Amino acid sequence: MHEAGSNDPRPSRRGFLDLFIAGGFLSWLGMVVYPIIAYLTPPRDTEAKATSAKVPKPVSEFPPNSSLIFAFGGDPALVVRSPAGTFTAFYATCTHLDCTVQYRADQGVIWCACHNGKYDLAGKNVSGPPPRPLAPLQVHVRGDEIYVSREVS
Ligand code: FES
Repeated sequence: MHEAGSNDPRPSRRGFLDLFIAGGFLSWLGMVVYPIIAYLTPPRDTEAKATSAKVPKPVSEFPPNSSLIFAFGGDPALVVRSPAGTFTAFYATCTHLDCTVQYRADQGVIWCACHNGKYDLAGKNVSGPPPRPLAPLQVHVRGDEIYVSREVS
């Protein structure tokens, strides 16, 4: 038996247990603290925000009173061609709780299926819980091609 304070250079049982407990505590701390820090630290933006993009559907295949949702950078975007034939575009993220909105041709509104939120074709919130209008995008029609771009404020 080796007691603390003896002249024996071998570690005591007590020293070994202290070392074991300290190692276990540090391991536990790493398992608890690292996920918390990783959760609280925002991820790097791996995809640069797009400033403009070509809509993957030409004007000739885009009849009035129809729409298209497509990826604009890392976000969903919605292009709507009104019954009168004009184009509007928005980020397709609902301003309530971030569900993706869609165009309801039967009602002539942009609709969020999550909580029945509705926006008019100008992107204004008109019914349901959405607190703000949709974020607009600019539309540029060049020949048969459609482009959208972020609004510069
Ligand atoms: S998330 Fe769109 S209405 Fe709630």
